[in-house]
Amino acid sequence: MKLLLLGSGGREHALAWKIAQSPKIEKLFIAPGNAGTREVGENVAIKVNDFPAIKRFVVANGIDMVVVGPEDPLVNGVYDFFRDDAELKSVPVIGPSKAGAVLEGSKEFAKGFMQRHHIPTAGYKSITADNLEEGLAFLETLSAPYVLKADGLCAGKGVLILPTLEEAKQELKEMLGGMFGNASAKVVIEEFLSGIECSVFVLTDGKSYKILPEAKDYKRIGEGDTGLNTGGMGSVSPVPFADREWMQKVEDRIIRPTVEGLAAEGIDYKGFIFFGLINVAGNPMVIEYNVRMGDPETESVMLRIKSDLVELFEGVAAGSLAEKTLEIDPRSAVCVMLVSGGYPEAYGKGYPMTGIEAAKAGGSIVFHAGTALDGDTVVTNGGRVIAVSSYGADKAEALAKSFENAGKIQFEKKYFRSDIGFDL
Ligand code: AMP
Ligand code: GLY
Repeated sequence: MKLLLLGSGGREHALAWKIAQSPKIEKLFIAPGNAGTREVGENVAIKVNDFPAIKRFVVANGIDMVVVGPEDPLVNGVYDFFRDDAELKSVPVIGPSKAGAVLEGSKEFAKGFMQRHHIPTAGYKSITADNLEEGLAFLETLSAPYVLKADGLCAGKGVLILPTLEEAKQELKEMLGGMFGNASAKVVIEEFLSGIECSVFVLTDGKSYKILPEAKDYKRIGEGDTGLNTGGMGSVSPVPFADREWMQKVEDRIIRPTVEGLAAEGIDYKGFIFFGLINVAGNPMVIEYNVRMGDPETESVMLRIKSDLVELFEGVAAGSLAEKTLEIDPRSAVCVMLVSGGYPEAYGKGYPMTGIEAAKAGGSIVFHAGTALDGDTVVTNGGRVIAVSSYGADKAEALAKSFENAGKIQFEKKYFRSDIGFDL
């Protein structure tokens, strides 16, 4: 099979690494990919939202399947673009239709969906400039801290958590006034939930589903989960509190109602669902849905999938996922992200990197996130630069290996959190 994977981050390198191990793969292309994905496939210089260019490439190269890494092309309707095109409709796309991607593309839709299907989540109200007074009154009924979410996609920056009522009221007005452009023309005000977060992933063909290994990610830049939010500084799988009993609650109260709810609403959904959960006094509640895998969770989760991922994708495409088996590696897997100093604020790019081969020789699997090639030299090309993933008999062993190998990779102003997993 010839498979085209869309995306260019650490998540896509991890997906590409796993896909390339399938004996079914004759050729793997990644568009646009990065300096790491070219080690496991062939990079193609096409942007993920350039659907006409994707079509030309798929037709010209006889691509048999497309797997979508990031949310953007899904929210923009890449699945529908293939389904509705005479030349493309026989090529399955792993990822939901535009109607399904709204689960991530609109916080208001996601909250309404959960309410309709009795899926546990924080209480909320959806506000626009027209009912601002209602929003201010709703804030008065809540207690601190206050959670405000822009309805639309904001590259992970659309959630504000405010310590006082005054700030919450002020920020609500500013969001509605265009703080995040059109994405915050509607704002969801939510009750604040307190607990530890956990990311749970499923792959679904719209009827049946497979629950992939769960993971916890570390979003803050500083040790002890302090400082600014980032795209993710590391991840750990499994998550100790996500034991059999807790995961049974997740499946019964959240996963099954979600998959059945999508089907009941006539939404075409063949792909990953990412449940951003929080453990509130032993009970899982949904913080958010995403319609793709998580980053940097994928850089741990892929290590723990023993089965052929492409065979699972075939089951998704054919609607026969229930007949496939998913085997999970009992070992722990972790990922430590190396970032460029200054990130998530201003940072430099183009710093030459050394030690990647040494880190691999030390037993880690290295996934590129923001790297590029300058001649033959790998250089930094983003804030989150490279992920060092490792297996271990337990979390401590896996982390020790990742930290040791993270130390072997060098570039100017390198930074990483040396406390990943500290709270578990
Ligand atoms: P999101 O961009 O939706 O992932 O939200 C960013 C982060 O805000 C989440 O990972 C949570 O840590 C936090 N958050 C979002 N909603 C809530 C909530 N209702 N209660 C507590 N924390 C929240
Ligand atoms: N790790 C969180 C995300 O991918 O959105």
